[in-house]
Amino acid sequence: MQLLVNVDHIATLRNARGEGYPDPVEAASVCEESGATGIVFHLRKDRRHIRDEDVYRLKKSVKGTLDFEMAASDEMIEICKEVKPHLCTLVPEGREELTTEGGLNMKLVYDDFKDRVFPAFKDTGIKISLFLDPNPEDIKLAHELGSDAIELHTGTFANAVDSDAQKNELNRLTDAAEMIHSLGMTVNAGHGLNLKNLPILIENVPYLEDVSIGHALVSKAVFWGLERTVKEYLKIMNVES
Ligand code: PXP
Repeated sequence: MQLLVNVDHIATLRNARGEGYPDPVEAASVCEESGATGIVFHLRKDRRHIRDEDVYRLKKSVKGTLDFEMAASDEMIEICKEVKPHLCTLVPEGREELTTEGGLNMKLVYDDFKDRVFPAFKDTGIKISLFLDPNPEDIKLAHELGSDAIELHTGTFANAVDSDAQKNELNRLTDAAEMIHSLGMTVNAGHGLNLKNLPILIENVPYLEDVSIGHALVSKAVFWGLERTVKEYLKIMNVES
């Protein structure tokens, strides 16, 4: 299992004062030096955290896996093809949302992804991951499109208010992971993961490859520093740093 650190909120903090610091590219280097396998960033349409120049600087600087999270707009597809990350994670994006609120509705986007999005990435060497809720129907359609990976949305699990709700969502995630794996796609996961819920996820959900973690990790780093925080995550993932 691999830890991909999302550095969006380093940029959020930078943008709060319009200074050049803290720098998401410097944060990415510290995370990699501390043992993270790679870095995720989400370039949003409104550029509220990561900006275009960050994307090109991250591409130059990141040594491990670079995961470009984005909405499937023509503008983002162009930038992504120019940057050539290892992985492109496609997410729904609502202008008013504070963060990504759920997985893609595959029924809704299927025709557009089939006719416009997947052909645009053909022969680019960029792997495609679709951010999905643990729904068999969505996973089936993602497989029909030829997606390389699915990132399972763990937000509902992370926000579960009691142990029954958590168990129920863990069962859905487990079934989804089994299905994704059996269809030959890679199982990734992310959203709302932290030091408390990540061990529960790992214990229950099989075949996890990449976990993408941002807000909780960056928040903890305010107190512990990025190096110690990344190492604590790796420790509970049983990954040597
Ligand atoms: N994965 C996806 C697809 C996301 O949209 C986000 C949030 O940007 C994350 C993972 C990371 O979520 P969090 O910041 O809650 O760790």
